[in-house]
Amino acid sequence: MYFIIMETKTKIAGVEFGSYVLNASGPDCSTLEELKVIGGSGSSAIMMKSSTIEPRQGNEEPRYAKLLSGSIQCMGLPNLGYQEYIKFPIQLQKYNKPIIASVAGLCVEDYKKMVKAFQDSEVDLIEVNLSCPNLEGKPQAAYDFKQSEEILKAISDLGNKPIGLKLPPYYDFAHTKQMAELIKKYNVSFVTCINSVGNVLVIDPETETPIIKPKKGFAGLGGSCIKPIALANVRKFYELLKGEVQIFGVGGIESGADVFEFLLAGADAVQVATTFKEEGATCFERINKEFEEIMKRKNYNSIDEVKGNLKFL
Ligand code: DHB
Repeated sequence: MYFIIMETKTKIAGVEFGSYVLNASGPDCSTLEELKVIGGSGSSAIMMKSSTIEPRQGNEEPRYAKLLSGSIQCMGLPNLGYQEYIKFPIQLQKYNKPIIASVAGLCVEDYKKMVKAFQDSEVDLIEVNLSCPNLEGKPQAAYDFKQSEEILKAISDLGNKPIGLKLPPYYDFAHTKQMAELIKKYNVSFVTCINSVGNVLVIDPETETPIIKPKKGFAGLGGSCIKPIALANVRKFYELLKGEVQIFGVGGIESGADVFEFLLAGADAVQVATTFKEEGATCFERINKEFEEIMKRKNYNSIDEVKGNLKFL
């Protein structure tokens, strides 16, 4: 008798990830201390908070709230400024996992400057956030295909490190297709689907106010209630980009079963935000263990045996 070792290792743009589950750029990944916690956890990579050129305090509180089936946030990009995040990878190397930068420019020049700086740093991958919904008066770049193309032109050939795009949810296949066509024209190695569902409103009937203060209550929705939207976006991009561009799935992952669903849809790895925020860094090990148990129960030996193999009724 011999044992078959079940593998949940994955590879994104040639970079090896020890497991299929990592943190998302979002909660608790802004400071070196927070990133060290992620380094010491079961997350298979260290994803850093989206950086801007200048440090930002972010929006006024309350700017995050837990909901029955998810979370709402309007953080406003609190971060230390990109120059800090360029220095962190050297201090995080002892964890021996991929380190991913996330950049969120306020204009094309910002994106160019930050991507160039991270190209010249020790990070392994660069995620370009085209979908922050929480900046007053600033539309999400990825909903404007002309602006998205300007950014892609400016950033896609600045170095050898693989870059990817963090995308918002699309609700019409015409838009998904337009973005996929754009991506194929440039040097993009991965997409991350999806960012928060932008500009939702939750109202407290007692106080007669929104539950979030910034932007008169309009904020980003995350957690389990957005999982069907995330799965649909992963699946559609998988169909459109198959083989050419890899996919991080994100949106509502709480359990190993959720991870397995994203794998069936076609994700190459998954990122966790709300569950990490609510449960802490032990969530990665728990989710990984649950995922491995499902794989074993179904007699699958590697993620490649399942990836994208959604069956139809
Ligand atoms: C923030 C929210 C996002 O959804 C995002 O992509 C980047 C930043 C924020 O408000 O901090």
